[in-house]
Amino acid sequence: MNPGANPVPLVTIENPLPVSAEQARAWCAQLEAGDILYFPRTPIAISPDDLSFLLGQQQTDSSLHKNIAYKPNADKLSGVETRIANAAAVSRLHSIMRGYSQSVAKYLTEFLSPYRANWSLDYASFRPQEEQGRDLPLRRRNDLLHTDAFPTRPTHGARILRFFNNIHPSRTRDWVVGEPFAQVAPQFAPSQIAPRPDTAASRAAKSLGRAVGLGSAIPSLKRSPYDDFMMRFHNFLKENTRFQAECARYPEQFPPGSSWMVYTDTVPHAVLAGQYALEQTFLVSPQALVAPQHSPLKVLESIAGTALI
Ligand SMILES: [Fe+2]
Repeated sequence: MNPGANPVPLVTIENPLPVSAEQARAWCAQLEAGDILYFPRTPIAISPDDLSFLLGQQQTDSSLHKNIAYKPNADKLSGVETRIANAAAVSRLHSIMRGYSQSVAKYLTEFLSPYRANWSLDYASFRPQEEQGRDLPLRRRNDLLHTDAFPTRPTHGARILRFFNNIHPSRTRDWVVGEPFAQVAPQFAPSQIAPRPDTAASRAAKSLGRAVGLGSAIPSLKRSPYDDFMMRFHNFLKENTRFQAECARYPEQFPPGSSWMVYTDTVPHAVLAGQYALEQTFLVSPQALVAPQHSPLKVLESIAGTALI
């Protein structure tokens, strides 16, 4: 890898707080442009007891190893086989995830203060599986470069910001990243996508989808044309063997004890190896963005020539 050529800069944060209003706005702008903010030492405190509990969740002999999600707004834990798992262990995991979610939210409310009035706390997750060699259906594979979109939770233009902790005691979490959305999406969109101001948004989205080779799937009633495109783009990238083989790929290795955050709807990413991570997702509304021109919504609207939400 040639670090100078990486279009997704890793911005290292050595002293996480306090942050001036001006600096917070600058962090937001860098994130929105597609940078990864990287904390060599995580600013999120996780007690040694909680860490050893999480690391004790073995891959093969515990039922506490599915896709474990915590839904902060409902205070619900999902993905755990509660009929099988030890009730005390489930309760402990629930409590740890609640605490993690609250800690990240509290921290980022200060660190990214321009967002605080216009974002929502989405799910947190615990990822105890070894990522290398996982046997998953193609569209769910983590080791193929993709931008994120949620199949069942359309964001209507809100951006997907994710904060991660590598809690493995000794191993890095190995990612590769690709060129940001604003560079990748137009590669699949021919110049003949002309603005058509009289075209309905849904028709524009379908036309955009066809133009970039995504077909013209019937939009979901629940999804905006934007969400429909982003979901199909996620699938398209994973299914496109030529893109996977030929696109620019830049490795990033996140050491034990580190954190990082990135707009995963903007930066194509894949996880190649690593085990034991925590993650908290935020949905940042378009009104909160400090540099909205970088958002996938604005990029797509400028290609389609019409509103997509
Ligand atoms: Fe992803």
